[in-house]
Parts: sequence; structure tokens; C-alpha cells
Amino acid sequence: MASSSSSSPLLLALFVFLPLFIGMANANAYYKSCPQLFPTIRGVVQNAINKEARMGASLLRLHFHDCFVNGCDASNLLDDSSSIKSEKNAVPNKNSARGFEVIDQIKSAVEKVCPGVVSCADILAITARDSVVILGGPEWDVKLGRKDSMTAYFALANATNTIPAANASLSALISSFQNHGLSTRDLVALYGAHTIGQARCTNFRQHIYQDKNVDASFAKANQGKCPRNNGNGDNNLAPLDAQSPTKFDNTYFKSLLNRQAILHSDQELYNGGGSTDTLVRTYANNPQAFISDFKASIIKMGDIKPSSGSKGQIRKNCRRIN
Ligand code: HEM
Ligand SMILES: *[C@@H]1O[C@H](CO)[C@@H](O)[C@H](O)[C@H]1NC(C)=O
Ligand SMILES: *[C@@H]1O[C@H](CO)[C@@H](O)[C@H](O)[C@H]1NC(C)=O
Repeated sequence: MASSSSSSPLLLALFVFLPLFIGMANANAYYKSCPQLFPTIRGVVQNAINKEARMGASLLRLHFHDCFVNGCDASNLLDDSSSIKSEKNAVPNKNSARGFEVIDQIKSAVEKVCPGVVSCADILAITARDSVVILGGPEWDVKLGRKDSMTAYFALANATNTIPAANASLSALISSFQNHGLSTRDLVALYGAHTIGQARCTNFRQHIYQDKNVDASFAKANQGKCPRNNGNGDNNLAPLDAQSPTKFDNTYFKSLLNRQAILHSDQELYNGGGSTDTLVRTYANNPQAFISDFKASIIKMGDIKPSSGSKGQIRKNCRRIN
């Protein structure tokens, strides 16, 4: 049915720009109909971080664990129910993922100022950004318009190649990120999130007792916090970036140069001859290079689309489907 008129410049412009405007309307609708959205979220995140600085790290990680399991759809926020097997019990999350109560507080504050329009997945993305800003990192514009999933994806969340493990090799890390549409550069930049937060002994025991690629005095100091045998002190904590664990900066990369990473997978980024050594050195020496790459990569991560496409809902309560 193609007629010559369908290629007229006016119609062409309509086809090209209309979807763009609709997409932008999704994001801008929040500013217009809900000017209180951003200040409301920033306020709750600020209070939570004032109470406990580590919470900023925990909230940032929730956005990552959301986006890497079937895209950014808040599937990681759903609780167990008769029809849902929660991702919260998958290996990377169990006894580890935290901050769900803060997300609940944010959701109820947001529902008060603009009911029914802001998804839990968008809340995770805004909350991650606000956590970074409050801990001294950069601002960026968060893209909006995500929908919340109708189910959780336990098996996917529990599979070792979905969210990589603390003992993953560099090649496993690179291929996991590739599977999510992210480059090796994105991997190193996003890994800079480990400039804040804590890890449990169970995740770094092997590294500080058995690995060769670790500074001896650093390993020894952390052995004091993490007994040698499995089952002893498994939940004892050590900072991911010992130099400044509650400041979003580039000192994490300096620690990698000193072989003072707490996780095996972190030190894999700088392991003497690997393909990412040069980039780690760049970020360690040039904080601006890290910050500008981190912003670009976290926006890219926030764009990972759920397999269900646009099907989804705006949950009233982030812990259950409507
Ligand atoms: C690339 C592969 C990654 C691996 C293997 C990895 C692994 C880990 C592990 C094992 C922990 C400690 C968890 C525990 O012991 O309970 C952790 C913590 C953390 N991760 Fe990652 N991570 C990766 C990437 C990322 C990314 C891309 C982000 C965010 C953009 C991120 C943000 C965090 C934060 C902020 C914490 C601290 C959380 C807290 O203190 O509550 N990680 N990660
Ligand atoms: C989750 O994965 C771990 C291995 O990483 C496995 O031991 C465990 O059985 C899995 N859990 C379930 C319920 O499938
Ligand atoms: C990582 O640790 C798990 C369980 O702790 C183990 O099954 C797996 O073989 C380890 N992988 C590597 C690459 O060491």
C-alpha cells in the first residue's frame, strides 16, 4: 500500500520524531506532573545515609542486581509468595543484598506525592544516582519510563554467569558483561562502584589465604577479620575500598595497583598483563576519566531492557505485584 505520498518529508518527519516525543514524554511527564519526585527521593536517601553511610552502597548495588537479572524491572524487589520465588534467596543476594526497607520508604513517599505513576525500577535507578551523589560522586540525568516485572527470576539470579561471583576470572567477567550488552570498558568503569561498601568474609576468604596476586600485609591484616575455616566469621565485613569506604572516588583503582583488592574478581581487573590493566591505571591516575566513563556506563546499564518488553506494571508496593 506504499504510495508516493508516504515518503513526503512531513510524514517522514512524523514517523521519525513522533516516537521520540512519546519516549521523552514518558520521562518528562514525571517532571511536569510530579515536580516533587526528585526532591522526595533525594530526601529519603539522604536520611538513610545519614543514619548509616554504607546504605548508599547497598542501594547502588540493588540497581545493578536488578538490571543484570532480566533487565531493569525491579524483579529483585519481589518477596516470596505462593506464585513467586524471590531473587532475594539467590546466591548473590542471600545474606547480602540490603536496603529493601529504604526502598519501601521511598516508594510510600513517592506514592504520596504522585500516586501510581513511578515504577519501582525507576525508583531503583534514581536512588542509585542519589546515593552516588550524596557520597561525593557525580550527578547524571536518569532515564525514566521503566515498567516493573510481573514475576521474579530466581533461577536466572542464582546462575553463576548472570551476576558474576567474587572468584570470577577476568574472562568470565568480560563475557558476563558482554552477555548484558556491556563492553570491557563498561565493566571496568562500573566496577568502580566498589569504591564504596563492604564485602563478607565468605566472599574474600579464598583470596586472602590462597591467592598469589595480593599484597602480603594487606592479606594478613584482613585474615584478622576473616578466620581461615569455612563457617567461621562468614559474615564478618571488610571494605571494598579500604582507603575511603564511604566516599565515591577513584581510590579503589589505586588499591588495585597496590594489589589491595579485597575480592579475587576485583584484582582480576589488574592482574599483571591482563587486557584491563591499562584502563585501571588510567582511572587510578585520572579521576575525571573514571567519573565520565562511570556516568556513561551506568546510564547504559540502566537501559538494559526486560525480555518481556513493555509488558509490565507500576507496582503499588515494590515487594509484590498488583
Ligand atoms: C563485575 C562484577 C561484580 C562482582 C563479581 C561483584 C561482586 C560483589 C561482591 C561479592 C560484593 C560483596 C557482597 C557480600 O559480600 O555480601 C559486592 C558488593 C558491592 N557491589 Fe559488586 N560486584 C560486581 C559489580 C558491581 C557493579 C557493576 C556494581 C554497581 C554498579 C556493584 C556495586 C557493589 C556495591 C556498592 C557493593 C557494596 C554493597 C554493600 O556494602 O551493601 N558491583 N559486589
Ligand atoms: C543456587 O546456586 C548454587 C550454586 O551456585 C547451588 O548450589 C544451589 O543449589 C542453587 N539453588 C537452587 C535452589 O537452585
Ligand atoms: C568459586 O567458588 C565456588 C564456590 O565457593 C566454587 O564452586 C568454584 O569452583 C569457584 N570458582 C573458581 C573459578 O575458583
